[in-house]
Amino acid sequence: MARRKIIAGNWKMNKTPTEAKALVEMLAPLVKSDEVDVVYCVPAIDIVPVVEAVKGTNVEIGAENISDKDSGAFTGEISGAMIKDAGCKYVIIGHSERRDYYKEDDAFLNRKVHKAFQYDLIPILCCGESLEQREAGVTLDWIRLQLKSDLIGITAEQAATMVIAYEPIWAIGTGKVATTEQAQEVCHAIRELIAEIYDADTAEKIRIQYGGSVSASSAPELFAQPDIDGGLVGGASLKADFGKIVNYK
Ligand code: PGA
Repeated sequence: MARRKIIAGNWKMNKTPTEAKALVEMLAPLVKSDEVDVVYCVPAIDIVPVVEAVKGTNVEIGAENISDKDSGAFTGEISGAMIKDAGCKYVIIGHSERRDYYKEDDAFLNRKVHKAFQYDLIPILCCGESLEQREAGVTLDWIRLQLKSDLIGITAEQAATMVIAYEPIWAIGTGKVATTEQAQEVCHAIRELIAEIYDADTAEKIRIQYGGSVSASSAPELFAQPDIDGGLVGGASLKADFGKIVNYK
């Protein structure tokens, strides 16, 4: 069974609710596809208007973060129940910007992965190495450590529905896309790791994206790789180019 590709935009901290609606309307005719899953991961305040704006289209919505708590005195946090009730299907967990700037560690991210499943949200779990780590030759060791820690206690049935995004930090927002070989090598290693933690069937089902300066020109070759099941797209998801990335063939 061929895995269905999933192409997700990560809007990061961009677009007010008004701007978000306009972007959704601009992209609507460009991102139509019967072949791939299309997702916009948007700032929390944009979720409600964007869910409304994509009604009746092929686009699904995701949040960019989730609290590791259910509810209560956690000022500024957004719970899984809120994200789900607002109409999201996905949630990004462990983006390198959260790991680096907000010091989210693997134990914390593991709790967030559990929370996503508790609220019936599909995690898009991010991993990736820094330039120093790549140059030191520890990329695969580092990613194994991240994913093994983030997936503690997650069952094979849950893992099979997940999305993992391999995002080398040095390629994010830099215009410096990983080579097709580098991206395929790591995505393949991630699939092998999933087979090792769980089993071959789970590894066959889990979807693995590449992220980091994906563009209309790099997408076709990247997405043609056997272990790359789509992309997590930052900058280019805010432009008409996202339509070309979705319809990369
Ligand atoms: P980029 O961001 O496409 O702008 O490099 C990707 C990401 O951070 O998910």
